[in-house]
Amino acid sequence: MAKMWAGRTSGETSKIADDFNSSISFDKKMFKQDVCGSIAHASMLAYKGIITKSEGELIIDGLTQILSDIESGDLVISNDAEDIHMFIESVLTERIGDVGKKLHTARSRNDQVALDLRLYMREQSNLVVEKLKTLIEVIIEKAEENQDAIMPGYTHLQRAQPITFAHHLLAYAMMFIRDVSRVNDAVLRMNYSPLGSCAMSGTTYPTDRDFVAKKLGFDGVTMNSIDGVSDRDYCIELLSSFSTIMMHLSRFSEEIILWQSWEFKFIELDDAFSTGSSIMPQKKNPDMAELVRGKTGRVYGDLMAILTTLKGIPLAYNKDMQEDKECIFDGVETVIKCLDVFAPMIKTLKPLKENMYKACAKGFINATDLADYLAKKGMPFRSAYKIVGTIVADCIKKGVTLDEYSLEDYKTYSDVFESDLYQEISMETCIKKRISKGSTGYESVKEQLNYVKDFLKQN
Ligand code: ARG
Repeated sequence: MAKMWAGRTSGETSKIADDFNSSISFDKKMFKQDVCGSIAHASMLAYKGIITKSEGELIIDGLTQILSDIESGDLVISNDAEDIHMFIESVLTERIGDVGKKLHTARSRNDQVALDLRLYMREQSNLVVEKLKTLIEVIIEKAEENQDAIMPGYTHLQRAQPITFAHHLLAYAMMFIRDVSRVNDAVLRMNYSPLGSCAMSGTTYPTDRDFVAKKLGFDGVTMNSIDGVSDRDYCIELLSSFSTIMMHLSRFSEEIILWQSWEFKFIELDDAFSTGSSIMPQKKNPDMAELVRGKTGRVYGDLMAILTTLKGIPLAYNKDMQEDKECIFDGVETVIKCLDVFAPMIKTLKPLKENMYKACAKGFINATDLADYLAKKGMPFRSAYKIVGTIVADCIKKGVTLDEYSLEDYKTYSDVFESDLYQEISMETCIKKRISKGSTGYESVKEQLNYVKDFLKQN
């Protein structure tokens, strides 16, 4: 096929070079953004008198028709074209004749692709934010129902202190709230139009870049034409936010996998989100969570790919930059898929409260509370800590829990111990007495629930 850019060269490249050079197989996703960007550009050209009003109308009508034909399936995007920009421009010229060739006045593919990608990623990022909010909603629903479910909290994956399942779930809500703000923040910085930077140095035509920016919902225009066509910081920022989302989902997945195991059995995943084994009839596997954990590596890879692609290229546009798309598309699609499966998986899982509670009996998770009991009666905390440590060692030797240890035995360590200690170290008291802000205490968890609900209302 004759190249639009034939002139300086014959435009006759080998098939191998064409295939290697072509980006249409992946940039065709941006057809809508390409058409909308071109419509805004054409209306600016007409309003500034760079093309006539009727030429502008012809171009805009032609582009509008192309968009609806692609959407309806009447126009199939051909993989023979070099990229989506060339495809749409060539169809336009085929359909409306020579006037179509005026569309590219005061524009280059360099600023065109920079524009399309920002428009596309703005839409996708907003979708990610919506999906994050859906997940947060599911988490608060689950947390609300499980405010009384006492389970061990862990450090070093060793039983540490009693917490509620609601408190644990809300920790994830806080992470996803930060993720929402990270993505929104990246979008704020990205939301400036590069169109009009042209190839790299601007243009001699009397364009109105702000007009185009406003039409396309940008907050303004990029202020330096070289930067306008070279900047892909937003791809890095977005992929970095997506990587953080994946890291959060992956940690959550790891816990789901542990909790679903017979060793923990804190939850039962719904059959709809579990799989079986082809040989072991007893199996119920947490494949969804494992896949999310696995896909995290892919998104990190996407971030590394774009960082590495950009690190050595001189200003301004270089063809290396065509490599920005596959990684950012893969990154955003992976995050969306993972969020899509995660929300219903969490919504349908059943917490096994009794098992959680039973797990609290082992591991001396009320030892801190026993030390606090002594300290509150006037003993310095360090001394109390030491005594309780020694008592725990003795309990282990005797094969009993702190609740089963006799008052007589307690008194051999300190006269401060009285029979009220048993009430003080019950799991319920441990939770109830946590009064610090953000703690696992019932009141604090309610406050956290309200905080997350308010966030959803305001965002
Ligand atoms: N397909 C190209 C890309 O994605 C479009 C820009 C081409 N610009 C150029 N000067 N060859 O980067």
